[in-house]
Parts: sequence; C-alpha cells; structure tokens
Amino acid sequence: MSYAALKIIHVISVIFSYLLFMLRGIWMMQNSSILQRRWVKILPHVIDTVLLASAVTLVTMIQQYPGMSAWLSTKIGGLLLYIILGMMALRFGKSRKIKIISWITAQIVFFYIVLVALTKNPTLIS
Ligand code: HEM
Repeated sequence: MSYAALKIIHVISVIFSYLLFMLRGIWMMQNSSILQRRWVKILPHVIDTVLLASAVTLVTMIQQYPGMSAWLSTKIGGLLLYIILGMMALRFGKSRKIKIISWITAQIVFFYIVLVALTKNPTLIS
C-alpha cells in the first residue's frame, strides 16, 4: 500500500475516532443507554487499532521515529494523554463534573495533536 493511501486511512480513522468520542461524551452526559450497546463498546477499539496501526506503519515508511523527531514524540505523548483523559471521561471519572472536564480537555488535546500533525512542530509554528 502506498504512503499516500495509508495517510488517508490514518486521517479517516482520526476523524471517526474523534466523532465517536464526542458522541460517547454526549451520551454520557445524557445518561443514555446507547453507551451500553455492544457496537458502541467494540467500534472505538477497532477504529483506534486502525489509527495506531496506520501511525506505526507511516513512521516505519518514513523512518522517522518518536524520539528522533519532536513532533512525533509530541504526538505519542498527546495520544497517551488523550487516552487517559478519555478513560476518565467515559469510565473512571469519580463525578459527573470530573467526567465532563476530562471530556472537554481530551478534545483540546486531540485538536492540539491534529495541529502538531499539520505543522510538524510541537510549538505549532509551521
Ligand atoms: C489522536 C492521535 C492522532 C491524531 C489526531 C493524528 C492526526 C494526524 C493528521 C491530521 C495527519 C495528516 C497531516 C497532514 O495531512 O499533513 C497525520 C499524519 C501522520 N501521523 Fe498522525 N495522528 C495521531 C496519532 C499519530 C501517532 C501516534 C503517530 C506516530 C507516532 C502518527 C504519525 C503520523 C505520520 C507519520 C503522519 C504522516 C505525516 C506526513 O507525511 O505528512 N500519528 N496524523
């Protein structure tokens, strides 16, 4: 598969990952039973696996690894933060307030990662 095709798959999985995370947060705030549906529990894992697998394959193809380039290290750190905040928002947050604050912060982190991807610079100056 070409680098360009893989990058499109990466970006599509990024978009779906975000949309699903946003929806799950809205369902969390509405105390909706949709959150308990089987597909809602499984699909995020499938999408995030595609996201990570495409990321790993892309860095292998350009042979720039996190640790070597600051923007990739920042993306990894950002991704970890996004995962932790996402888990607090949808699972482990002790109160509704903590869950909502985690959900909003996760989205800010997510958009920061997108900007780092576009500028290839953690300071966002392209
Ligand atoms: C939530 C996590 C992530 C988001 C939101 C994200 C977002 C994006 C976006 C929007 C692009 C397209 C940039 C462009 O068109 O110029 C991209 C490309 C890319 N991403 Fe990610 N990404 C994420 C995770 C990762 C991770 C963990 C890695 C690997 C460490 C990674 C490696 C790459 C690479 C190598 C490219 C292609 C760069 C290029 O050739 O322009 N991404 N990412």
